[in-house]
Amino acid sequence: MNILILGSGGREHALAWAVKQNPKTDRLIVAPGNAGIAALAECADLDVLDGAAVVTFCEENAVDFVIVGPEAPLAAGVADATRAAGILTFGPSAAAARLEASKAFTKEICDACGAPTAGYARFTEAAAARDYVRAKGAPLVIKADGLAAGKGVIMGMTEAEALAGIDEIFGGAFGAAGAEVVIEEFMAGEEASFFILCDGVNALPIGTAQDHKRVGDGDTGPNTGGMGAYSPAPVLTDAIQKQAMDEIVLPTIHEMARRGTPYQGVLYAGLMIENGRARLVEYNCRFGDPECQVLMMRLGAQALDLMLACADGRLDRAQVNWAEDHALTVVMAARGYPGAYQKGSEIRGLSRLPEDSRHMCFHAGTALKDGQIVANGGRVLNVTARGDTLADARNRAYAMIDHLNWPEGFCRSDIGWRAL
Ligand code: AMP
Ligand code: GLY
Repeated sequence: MNILILGSGGREHALAWAVKQNPKTDRLIVAPGNAGIAALAECADLDVLDGAAVVTFCEENAVDFVIVGPEAPLAAGVADATRAAGILTFGPSAAAARLEASKAFTKEICDACGAPTAGYARFTEAAAARDYVRAKGAPLVIKADGLAAGKGVIMGMTEAEALAGIDEIFGGAFGAAGAEVVIEEFMAGEEASFFILCDGVNALPIGTAQDHKRVGDGDTGPNTGGMGAYSPAPVLTDAIQKQAMDEIVLPTIHEMARRGTPYQGVLYAGLMIENGRARLVEYNCRFGDPECQVLMMRLGAQALDLMLACADGRLDRAQVNWAEDHALTVVMAARGYPGAYQKGSEIRGLSRLPEDSRHMCFHAGTALKDGQIVANGGRVLNVTARGDTLADARNRAYAMIDHLNWPEGFCRSDIGWRAL
C-alpha cells in the first residue's frame, strides 16, 4: 500500500523507519520530512495544516493510508478531511484532539468520567485568577488552556511565581491559547508516559516511556521539548498500567464515544505516580517526541499493522508482540537550545553510525545543503539504541555519539539515570 506520513521531526523519522520495514508498504511518502527521512522515503512539499491540500495530494498519489504525526494538523481537522474523503487515517478528529488542544476540556472529561487528576479551577479574567491563587496558596500549576508548543505550563512554586504566570498568560504570551487559564493543584510524584491505541471503542496499550524535560544533566536548567527518553518506564508497573487503564483511559474513551466524538489514534497519557497510583497530568493526541523513537525501535514493523488495525476499528483482534528489550534515545541539540541557537552547522560522522534493528540515528531537525547534512532546528538528532537491558541500550547510544563530529551540538550525558 501507499502510505503518507505527515510531519518533519524525529517522531516522523521513527514512524517512517518502522513502517518502511513492513512488507505491506509499497510507496512511502513523508510531508514535509527532513534530510534523514529523505534517505528512506520520498519527501513531499505539502502544507500539512491544509486538509483540502492533503486530500488532493492523496488522490493524486493514490495514498491508501495517512498517518498524522504532530498535533497541529490534528487540531486543524486534517484527519476529519482525509476520513471524509474515504482515506484510511491514523489520528483523531479535531473534536477528539481537544483532549490535547484544550486543557479545560480534558478536565471536563475527567470530571464527567471520574478519572483521577489534579484539582483545578478555570478562569477567563486575571483578577479572579489572582484571588484564587491568594486564597489557595502555592504551590500551584498555571496553564494556558490551548496549544502552546509545550511552553504554556508555569510552575508556581511560590505565590509570586503563580501570580507572574497568570500575568504572562493573560498578557498574551501565548496568544489565543491563553484566553483561558487553568490553575491546578501541584501533584508530587514521578512522571511517566503511557501510550494507548484507541479505535473509538477498543483500547490497546503499546508501551511506556519516560523523558527528560530539563536541558541539563541532573534535571537542571530550563524545560525543553525533551532531551532523551527510554522505554519501558519501570515506574509504570503492570499493576499501575491496569489501574490507569481502568480508572483513566477506558473511562475517557467511553466518555468521548458517548459524546459522539470517538477517539481514534494514539492517546498519550502523561501520568504522575505517587504511592503506587497514577493520576492524569495531561493527554496528548499523538506520539511523544522523542518517546516515539524508543517505542518504534521496540515495535519495529508491527507498528504499521497496529496503526492499521487502529484506523480500521479492528483493535479488539490486534495484539502487540512484546520483546523483553529496552530502548533509549539521546537528543543532540544545537548549542543555545532551548534559547536562541544557530542553524546551518555541518554534522560530520553520520555515515559512520551503525543502522540496524538495534541502532538508528533519527533526524529531528536537519537539512541537506550542498551535499552535507546541516543542523536545521533546536533538537537536531535522536541517537537511539535497543538492548537487552537499559544499560546496554544506553551504552550503545552513547557509543554512537562518540562517532559524531559536531562541535556546535550538545547532549545530556545522563539519559536514563532515574531508571539506572
Ligand atoms: P503539561 O503540558 O500539562 O504536561 O505540563 C507540562 C509539565 O508540567 C508536565 O509534564 C509536568 O512535569 C508538569 N505539570 C503539569 N501539571 C502538573 C501538576 N498538576 N502537578 C505537577 N506537575 C505538573
Ligand atoms: N516529549 C514530550 C512530548 O512529546 O510532548
